[in-house]
Amino acid sequence: MIVKNKMKKILVTGGTGFIGSHTVVELQQNGCEVIIVDNLFNSSADVLEKIGIITGIIPAFEQFDLADPAPTAGFFSRHSDIDGIIHFAAFKAVGESMSKPLGYYRNNVGSLLNIHEGMKKNGIRDIVFSSSCTVYGQPDILPVTETAPIKPAWSPYGNTKQMCEDILRFTTASLPVRAIALRYFNPIGAHDSALIGELPLGVPNNLVPFITQTAIGLRQCLKVFGNDYDTTDGTAIRDYIHVVDIARAHVVAIERMMDEKGKSPLEVFNLGTGKGFTVLEIIQSFERVSGVKLNYEIVDRRPGDVEKVWADTSLANTELGWKAEKEIDEMMLSAWKWEKALSSNRVNGK
Ligand code: UD1
Repeated sequence: MIVKNKMKKILVTGGTGFIGSHTVVELQQNGCEVIIVDNLFNSSADVLEKIGIITGIIPAFEQFDLADPAPTAGFFSRHSDIDGIIHFAAFKAVGESMSKPLGYYRNNVGSLLNIHEGMKKNGIRDIVFSSSCTVYGQPDILPVTETAPIKPAWSPYGNTKQMCEDILRFTTASLPVRAIALRYFNPIGAHDSALIGELPLGVPNNLVPFITQTAIGLRQCLKVFGNDYDTTDGTAIRDYIHVVDIARAHVVAIERMMDEKGKSPLEVFNLGTGKGFTVLEIIQSFERVSGVKLNYEIVDRRPGDVEKVWADTSLANTELGWKAEKEIDEMMLSAWKWEKALSSNRVNGK
């Protein structure tokens, strides 16, 4: 529980997005007041109502672009009572970042800088930052720990995550700011209610939405990118983690800073399950829980993909007292329930 006496007010940037919306639910269910800022580039305002159905509270919401300094400064002038920030708002498509690098730097790095100005102005100390296991590239040692070297980024997207972590390293060293960077492995699944989940616009880049869209009939065939990796079945290995487990970690992280429990001004934690699954194992799990036979074919490796990565989660387990709880079949079932809910909304014209 975050709230002991006074209700904490948390700004959640990107709070209508995939991980953001699940985190808003967890925050509200733990007694926090939430205000969301989102430009809705990659999400929909309908999510607010859905959060309201789950938690009984429709969160406060303002729509503007945090990469734009003027509205961001205006927002912080109007809201002087924010206790902490969870910052999700960012572009996240690896491939797109290759063709639009400037947009990625401007948005992902610019937003963090503008938020820092607001923090300085309002004396807000605590920020949780969405980072990614992509900062490790292909780690030399698995499972990968937080002290593993940061490898040169393979995409502007990955580079923005590294740059933002660097910015936090220096701002937390010299300004009255504390941060926790959470390095997500592969977040999948959806809320149990099937009211919120991932809403990929257009053709999904990520594996699980592509699987569920293929199974529901929106895509013809899943392409499995490579079966000549050095793994048990030749397909690449990732550490898939349920989005609600990720969301819960954010509540713990912001609470840790506010309760003065952090051990250093910037802390970094891996958020994974500690278990790796191949692409074929993910397909098998999906087929097991859905009863649907998936149409897939093996094609060449996708450029930029690493062979295998999974997390050492001991630091998050011991320091945050947090552990991923949901197993792979539960993750895939919730993703499937969400896809079916989306499909029935489409049929009903919602
Ligand atoms: C990538 C990024 C990660 C980012 C995430 C969010 C890298 C190395 N990783 O994760 O930082 O947070 O996207 O979008 O940049 N696959 C297929 N067929 C498909 C799609 C995927 O076989 O149609 C395979 C991939 O080759 C990979 C696995 O499934 O082995 C997972 O892919 P994906 O869901 O795209 O995530 P990552 O590439 O691991």
